[in-house]
Amino acid sequence: MARITGPLSGDAQKVVADALQGALVDLIDLSLVAKQAHWNIVGPHFRPLHLQLDELVDVARQHTDTVAERAVALGINPDGRSATVAGATKVQQPEHGWIDDGKVVATFTDILEGVIRRMRERVAATDEPDPVTQDVLIAVTQDVEKQHWMFQAQR
Ligand SMILES: [Fe+2]
Repeated sequence: MARITGPLSGDAQKVVADALQGALVDLIDLSLVAKQAHWNIVGPHFRPLHLQLDELVDVARQHTDTVAERAVALGINPDGRSATVAGATKVQQPEHGWIDDGKVVATFTDILEGVIRRMRERVAATDEPDPVTQDVLIAVTQDVEKQHWMFQAQR
């Protein structure tokens, strides 16, 4: 079987693999919870939030692919299987059923705060072992922080 090799090995590769896998799980689940809210939101601010949640889905999906393919380029297998994501996610789950628009804003402000905290830990962890991966994670964090601002601004 052909295998992909990259410039990292040993501990450096392990640290980078953990950072990229953690980022992958966060981004996949972020896209799932954002779609859940996109469908179930109700209230006077339905329309802008319904659309904003799809912007968040697009950001998360785009970065999911970038993060997974960065892992592959380093010879690391990304694991985006549903069981893996369900078992590993730290993303707060919205309740089942209708979600009031105000609750969506509060919930997604919190969810994004958590994702940002974990992404910044990954940025710090990859600084020395692989600044190229760190650059990818910085770009992800920048876009997640922009989304965090736009949810906060509606409180
Ligand atoms: Fe839709």
